[in-house]
Amino acid sequence: MWHPRCFRRCYLDREPIEPGRALAEGEQHHQVTHWETLPEREMGESVKRGYSLFMNTQQMRTSGKVNNGMNCTNCHLGGGSVADAAPMWAAFVSYPAYRSKNKRVNTFQDRLQGCFLYSMNAEGGKPPEVTSQEILDLNAYSYWLSFGVAVDNNLPGRGFGHISEPELAPDYERGQQAYQENCAVCHSEDGQGRKVADRYVFPPLWGPDSFNWGAGMHKVNTAAAFIKHNMPLGQGGSLSDQQAWDIALFMDSHERPQDPRYDGILVKLKKVIMATTAIW
Ligand code: HEC
Ligand code: HEC
Repeated sequence: MWHPRCFRRCYLDREPIEPGRALAEGEQHHQVTHWETLPEREMGESVKRGYSLFMNTQQMRTSGKVNNGMNCTNCHLGGGSVADAAPMWAAFVSYPAYRSKNKRVNTFQDRLQGCFLYSMNAEGGKPPEVTSQEILDLNAYSYWLSFGVAVDNNLPGRGFGHISEPELAPDYERGQQAYQENCAVCHSEDGQGRKVADRYVFPPLWGPDSFNWGAGMHKVNTAAAFIKHNMPLGQGGSLSDQQAWDIALFMDSHERPQDPRYDGILVKLKKVIMATTAIW
């Protein structure tokens, strides 16, 4: 079921976050500070609000700025503290930076907005304003997590870790089988996650409540690296590279909310492509 042109488009032509450099001998990943070090008064309150938003981003659902079932911490694990799960302390010190995705120098706040737009599927393609309280608070929380880190866009632990090129072209059917064996127990057989009392305890991997087509997790290479290093939850590193690629392809071959940058024609086109090749 592998389509060479799609494979190239899905994984070679797009720009992932490069994983940071390897740890030097005896070097440790950045350890985030303790809650006792929280600054006082207004700044401390802002950090706490940022943490609360990061863990329970669903509190913004009513504003339409979050228009799916995701929380930041679903992908940036441990409240954005975990190495190889795109931690905020490695991201915060990496900006400003040029990105070809939007062809300009981006700030950290731009990246926060980007995840609202794609990973959180903001309604009407409109993320919170840079000056909104939510962006200010997420910024304050990320700054606090980064305390003591020197400015450096290549820190060990940045991004989702390294994954080798697949030996075999990623395969939908192999991915499906490995998914059922390793992932379905939590994310459910149909990938829709599991809820307790209206709240996701296991987040959806596709479908209407998941990230949209424009999201970083919808790039097969990014998803493969995330899966390899972080899933099954608590057993990161247990899958082979090939399994991670196969599962990533399988996961990203399903329906999900559309990319707000695409117009109706492209949406239709993509539906046709998906129906005929079953992968994207
Ligand atoms: C569905 C998974 C997912 C969710 C949910 C998510 N992100 Fe992300 N985030 C990613 C991926 C994947 C990337 C890498 C983007 C790329 O490669 O284009 C990323 C990148 C980032 C970056 C830049 C990281 C770096 O090292 O440069 C920041 C900052 C960020 N996200 C913040 C957030 C915040 C804040 C939220 C919640 C409002 C959030 N993300 C929700 C998956 C997610
Ligand atoms: C033991 C339960 C468990 C298993 C097994 C598991 N996951 Fe997860 N997964 C989670 C939880 C919980 C989160 C959210 C983490 C958080 O919020 O702290 C998550 C997050 C994710 C995310 C990012 C959020 C999203 O919904 O897109 C992806 C992608 C993902 N898992 C893929 C997989 C894949 C692929 C497998 C199989 C290789 C797998 N998971 C196995 C529990 C599990």
